Amino acid sequence: MRTAITLCGSLRKGSVNEILRRHMSAKLGEAGIAVSNLSLADFDMPIFNQDLEPGHVPQSAARLAEAFRSHDIVFLATPEYNGGVPPLVVNTIAWLSRQKPSPFRNAVFGIGGVSSGKYGTIWSLSHLRDTLGKIGALVVPTLLGIGPSDGAFDAAGQPVEPAIQVKVDQMVKELTHFSRGGI
Ligand SMILES: Cc1cc2nc3c(=O)[nH]c(=O)nc-3n(C[C@H](O)[C@H](O)[C@H](O)COP(=O)(O)O)c2cc1C
Repeated sequence: MRTAITLCGSLRKGSVNEILRRHMSAKLGEAGIAVSNLSLADFDMPIFNQDLEPGHVPQSAARLAEAFRSHDIVFLATPEYNGGVPPLVVNTIAWLSRQKPSPFRNAVFGIGGVSSGKYGTIWSLSHLRDTLGKIGALVVPTLLGIGPSDGAFDAAGQPVEPAIQVKVDQMVKELTHFSRGGI
């Protein structure tokens, strides 16, 4: 059975990206994938500073890196901050990129995001895909950008727009299809 972890790049109470993360977990589960729901709140890491290496590398970085290595799929829902990737996600990637062996070379990655703006995190996702690709990750082609967030999900956390539902299904297919299974 294929396995996945899902993460949200916002710790905010009432995060709209957390709604997307939950929805993707449910859809991956419906596709027969065993999903682990993770929260970055449980992987606290200080702001990356190379002086902290090697003596003060957070245990969280090793634990999360192992979760990346031991699953077939990683889905991340992230906000967009100032047209880019938010600090929580940047910081997490910086710490994980220092872990050996690379946690970015096993799982296939799906990235999505919800923003209050109508461009739906597209700049954030574009930067994030670029970074992940440069560190050896395989990111599936569909970018699940959703915006504006107001009214994007119904009370049950389902995306309202049919075009978004199609995109979600497409991403689930891609994540299943491109899983590398332990290379
Ligand atoms: C520092 C900061 C920068 C932001 N920059 C953008 C932006 O560039 N584009 C955008 O659409 N929304 C931007 N927003 C609004 C976010 O889309 C909105 O706060 C969203 O709800 C954050 O996701 P969350 O609910 O998962 O925390 C920004 C918000 C903050 C706090």
